[in-house]
Amino acid sequence: MPQVDTARFLQDLHDLRKIGAFKTGVHRPTYSPQDMESRRWLMQRMEEIGLEASIDGIGNVFGRHRGPGPHLLVGSHIESQNEAGWLDGALGVVAGLALARAGLPVDVCAFADEEGHFEGGFLGSKSIIGELSEEDIDRSRSRNDGTPLREALKAAGLAGLPRMQIDPARYKGFFEMHIEQGTQLERGGLRVGVVTGIVAIWQWRLIVTGQQDHAGGTTMAERKDAGLTAVRLLAAIDREFPRICGERSTWTTGRILLEPGAPSIIPGKADVLFQFRDVSMEKLQEMEATLRMLVRESNRRERCHTELISISKATPALCDPVMMRALGGAAEALAPGAWQEMPSGAGHDAQYLAKKMPAAMLFTPSIGGISHHWAEDTKEEDLALGVQVLAEGAARYLAGAK
Ligand code: HGY
Ligand code: MN
Ligand code: MN
Repeated sequence: MPQVDTARFLQDLHDLRKIGAFKTGVHRPTYSPQDMESRRWLMQRMEEIGLEASIDGIGNVFGRHRGPGPHLLVGSHIESQNEAGWLDGALGVVAGLALARAGLPVDVCAFADEEGHFEGGFLGSKSIIGELSEEDIDRSRSRNDGTPLREALKAAGLAGLPRMQIDPARYKGFFEMHIEQGTQLERGGLRVGVVTGIVAIWQWRLIVTGQQDHAGGTTMAERKDAGLTAVRLLAAIDREFPRICGERSTWTTGRILLEPGAPSIIPGKADVLFQFRDVSMEKLQEMEATLRMLVRESNRRERCHTELISISKATPALCDPVMMRALGGAAEALAPGAWQEMPSGAGHDAQYLAKKMPAAMLFTPSIGGISHHWAEDTKEEDLALGVQVLAEGAARYLAGAK
């Protein structure tokens, strides 16, 4: 059983937490100065452990094991959502450092912009498997302030650096450790989750065009209120989706921007970011068809026009059953009866790596299920247990996979 230095693992997590600290969480938007500081910090840790550290043209930080294979790839992301949690992503990267330090033949990677600060998201894991084109980079803008991705890469000192491509033949598989970002483990009194499948996120933008006008002089009969049309359409989606969705489908309106956004002016424009998720491609396609039908119906009935724009469509991923069995065996050995198999309601880099190699994920509980919030947290004993299960599962998989 690999001996993981869990004290050092926890220390690394807390050291990384100090970079871009925000209340008890972190604020490390992709390519921000604090994000780039965390990437430099990671490269130093990698070199200390004996990995050959590098950063590529999209910001992926890669630590290459210098010894013979067969190898595993272990990682996640280190940027955060805005003013969010200290463990989302960072846990999986620092766990990779811990496995390398324990002598396992692992390469470690922090994939850039899993959190989608730039339209489309998952820039690093898409790039490393060859699914991010130069045109994609030309098109992408920051969702925070509209900065073109090209400009952000230049300001971060990454412009012109080659973007690395993964060699799937080098690896037996990809492991990602992550917080659950939900309440299932905590509610079940469990400490470890072995992930069965990862949902796909299908991201949309709805632009509703009405007529900016006076809030008092314009009668209710003649006004074209983009805000009301937007909320009626979102209400129709919320009424129709339960009729066709899957057991774990979710749909979320993360942002509604009304222009000009003044109390005495009828909004002439509503700019909406809407997404839905499921682990089944069939359900995703049914939700898209329903969404398109509802937009058509809105445009038939309303005085304002809605344009539906597809921003990104990820692919759901099933985790590798052999890797899952290795993780399950390790969990039963280290936490008998305190683990379960479960789906992931969040998207992860693993779903892109799964296109090129066997992939599996390990969850640790989130206190109160809170995530994408600075209060996100996990008990230290659960973090320590999780990394030991990951190491044992990886060693079992390698032993079986020779
Ligand atoms: O939204 C997600 O599922 C991921 O945390 N970016
Ligand atoms: Mn994450
Ligand atoms: Mn996240």
